[in-house]
Amino acid sequence: MRHLSVPKRRTEEFKRLLIENQWYAKGYRILSDEECTLIPISDTAPSPLPSPFTGIPIVEEIQEAPSPNTWLEHLQDHLPQSVIDEHEGIWPNSQEQLGDLVIFKIDREVEKYAQQVALAKISYAKKTRLVLKDLGVKGEFRVRELIPLAARLNGEILDADGICALEENDRIELTSTKISIKENGVSILLDPSSAYYSNRLAGERRQTVNSALELREVLDREVNVVDPYCGVGPAILQLNNEKDLLNRVFASDLNQAAIDLFIERLGCVPEDWIVETRDALKLREDEDLLGRFDILLMNLPHDTLSHLPSLLPLLTKQGPRLVRGWAVVKEEEIPQHDAKLNSILSEHGSFSKPVESSIRRQYNSTMVLTRFEARLGNW
Ligand SMILES: C[S@@+](CC[C@H](N)C(=O)[O-])C[C@H]1O[C@@H](n2cnc3c(N)ncnc32)[C@H](O)[C@@H]1O
Repeated sequence: MRHLSVPKRRTEEFKRLLIENQWYAKGYRILSDEECTLIPISDTAPSPLPSPFTGIPIVEEIQEAPSPNTWLEHLQDHLPQSVIDEHEGIWPNSQEQLGDLVIFKIDREVEKYAQQVALAKISYAKKTRLVLKDLGVKGEFRVRELIPLAARLNGEILDADGICALEENDRIELTSTKISIKENGVSILLDPSSAYYSNRLAGERRQTVNSALELREVLDREVNVVDPYCGVGPAILQLNNEKDLLNRVFASDLNQAAIDLFIERLGCVPEDWIVETRDALKLREDEDLLGRFDILLMNLPHDTLSHLPSLLPLLTKQGPRLVRGWAVVKEEEIPQHDAKLNSILSEHGSFSKPVESSIRRQYNSTMVLTRFEARLGNW
């Protein structure tokens, strides 16, 4: 369902505006998304939403239909009702379900109750093996720091102390975060503790497939793709799910753990593909890679513009070619960002109209995640 993505501090303002217009999806939850909130929009609201919602990012997020049975009801088994009432609206309703893992972030105000929250969540989600507190992504690999707080072993629920008390082998097996999930029907092997993966970008990857299919039509042949920040390979795996779309693939990442997971998922790396640990900034030193690819994926959102000049030489020198990239930018600085982007791209090839970034979602209170698509070679 559609959600308005707004900075946390403006949640009440926009919730009220939606309610006044009768466009608030009653019974559905307001979700937390990094430093923003996602406010559910009712199916009856127009699309696009008119003023005063014009320009506010809309995010698609799956929410189960409202049900009287929520994890919060299980919290009563672990905390007094007075404590639950005192912090109403702050309890972490949003969570990520990845396979049999549940990962949640918790507001500082109720962090001391994280153990009880984890137990309530695992009691509610009967198929969950492990509930982890998410302390956010860290370092250049963008890997999450996760703390296991509740687990299910042979039907019995264990808290953090219970998990620690297990024999080492049992504990390692029970708290493993390596899992296989399905994204748009494609299976992906991941481990959020050692390699970046976000299912929030699944929609972006679907659109990458659509653009690649268009390019295949224009070129009248299979396409060659370079994904220098491939992580565990979700974008390439989605492209590979289309028959006769991919020819040559070069997929790399600085994080060895991500590459290991990607290769393990592939089983055997197809002929004409290279999947390896590499620093994207050094790829242009490799003569064999220069001028070879039709599609370049730039998914290092904090450094897109600074890395882009190093990667463009990997694209073919003429003919239709495609760059899709994501960048985290201050909203008011998008025009300057786009001016720089166009100036970098124009050194590599021509395009019929200026490339414009579009806002995909709010990233934090001041920044947004944007995406651009550059169709070089005038197609
Ligand atoms: C935002 S993640 C994107 C991962 C993947 N494309 C996806 O969508 O799931 C950025 C990735 O870039 C990798 N990375 C960071 N710096 C890099 C560099 N200099 N060269 C190659 N990979 C890098 C990180 O390890 C991380 O996996």
